[in-house]
Amino acid sequence: MTGGATDTVARPLLELTGITKRYGDLLANDDVSLRVAPGEVVAMLGENGAGKSTLMKVVYGLVRPDAGTVAVDGRPLDISSPKDAMGAGIGMVTQEFSLVETMTVTDNVALSGTGLGRVDRAETRRRVVEAMERVGVSLDPDRLVGSLSIGERQRVEIVKALFHDCRVVILDEPTAVLTPQDVRALFETVRRLRAAGLGILVVSHKLREVAEISDRVVVLRRGRLVGDRVTATVRDEELAALMMGGSTDEVAAATATPAGEPSELEAAVGMGDPEPVQPAGAGPTTGEPVLLLTGLTVSRGGRDVLSGIDLTVRAGEIVGLAGVSGNGQTELVEVLSGTLPVTSGTLEVDGQDVTSADVGRRLAAGLGRLTEDRRGSVVPQMSVEYNLVLEDLPAYTKRGLLDRKAVRAHAEAMIERFDIRARPADAVATLSGGNMQKVLLARALARRPRVLVVAQPTRGLDIGAYRYVHQQLDELRTEGAGVLLVSEDLDELRALSDRVVVLFRGEVVGEMPVAEASPDRLGVLMAGGGSS
Ligand SMILES: Nc1ncnc2c1ncn2[C@@H]1O[C@H](COP(=O)(O)OP(=O)(O)OP(=O)(O)O)[C@@H](O)[C@H]1O
Ligand SMILES: [Mg+2]
Repeated sequence: MTGGATDTVARPLLELTGITKRYGDLLANDDVSLRVAPGEVVAMLGENGAGKSTLMKVVYGLVRPDAGTVAVDGRPLDISSPKDAMGAGIGMVTQEFSLVETMTVTDNVALSGTGLGRVDRAETRRRVVEAMERVGVSLDPDRLVGSLSIGERQRVEIVKALFHDCRVVILDEPTAVLTPQDVRALFETVRRLRAAGLGILVVSHKLREVAEISDRVVVLRRGRLVGDRVTATVRDEELAALMMGGSTDEVAAATATPAGEPSELEAAVGMGDPEPVQPAGAGPTTGEPVLLLTGLTVSRGGRDVLSGIDLTVRAGEIVGLAGVSGNGQTELVEVLSGTLPVTSGTLEVDGQDVTSADVGRRLAAGLGRLTEDRRGSVVPQMSVEYNLVLEDLPAYTKRGLLDRKAVRAHAEAMIERFDIRARPADAVATLSGGNMQKVLLARALARRPRVLVVAQPTRGLDIGAYRYVHQQLDELRTEGAGVLLVSEDLDELRALSDRVVVLFRGEVVGEMPVAEASPDRLGVLMAGGGSS
């Protein structure tokens, strides 16, 4: 044997060379080369639409590149399906999970490989449990996937990858849908995988997460790889500059604000930091109620998912709704949006009783909404411009016909304002995750609602868009609208809200001005430790 040791050190586990992918005249990936070593965690940053998911999908066989090669252990591969990728030791956890809800954890993991044909069930179950132990995941292998939380489902996807002895694991924005507790559990798993010598490629928009979990960080900008740095020594400002395309000097100038005051960019960069911008609460509001819930109760499957909710949002204030996912927030947003019926109690929008009104009447009463179900809120096969006016069709209709010119003009204005990386006629289905989110936000905000109900408004958005959306919500408040902000991001809640309301097991268990809403206090209430 000659040169074995040096070879292994020098040889990357995963190597991408010259990956190029075009969609029409758009270069989604432009000659991207990248290496991941065994036992290395590489984070990928980049603006919405930069081409991150496209690159990950190329590696996992979901997208066929126009040029370039993927190699594992120095062997170039011909990957044309996820099955090929898995066979070559590459696993991926996509944002839309591919699990069957009516099957158990074990069956889901096993199904992903061979199909359930003649496999020995007991043996399969044993191997699934073993794979879970390897990554420190504890899940009941016999539970139905339909009964698992989002965080738990994601763990099933990771176990799936390991079950097939993957040596490279790709995670595309894995933390976007997770609660803070689940993020901690995920990072613990990632550390174990790294210790076991796997190579990990993880996409994130959060610099704090990148700093915590990665060894190296690469930046994609408009399809090109524009930066490759060692995480331990790179500064946040430099990463932000690489992402947004400014030079470090420009960014340094932009951060030079009066001492003690966080600049726009510092605030953006520090997003998700434990102590962000000071709470923005403008003090008690005396505006008239624009959203009024009285004794609102909602039953689902014979169980109260919301019970006796009394809640007021006044003109000119942002009310933050905090709670651990699964405590009724999703249902509250659905019931306000008109997609889930009220069991008892009343609901008023801007003085009008809309308790049993349909969606159209609620929108007409002045409600704006952004629910968590992004895909359910758009018509994916239809254009960006059509989706942008979907909730306002009467305003864009002339003598029974859609006013195409007005629709186009509106779309162009929204694309410009929200920096949506798409053309008016593009099908929404082809948009990147963050850009689809921007379309929905633009639609909800453009209507200038009297009260806006938003769930997780900045989930999946890049740093610039995060900042922009916060400005927009703030502006809406200044103009005198009310906002009910549902977010799992406590920093976001505290940065924007005037008041914070805590939901636990379908009940309001706390309400306080933002100045009193410390993370500790919220944490206790969210865990059901309120004195009530
Ligand atoms: N099937 C497709 N057809 C046409 N264009 C596409 C298709 N898939 C992706 N694109 C375009 O390719 C570009 C890159 O998209 P991609 O999903 O890779 O971005 P991303 O970096 O993952 O963004 P985000 O942070 O928003 O998830 C976008 O402009 C997107 O509109
Ligand atoms: Mg993406």
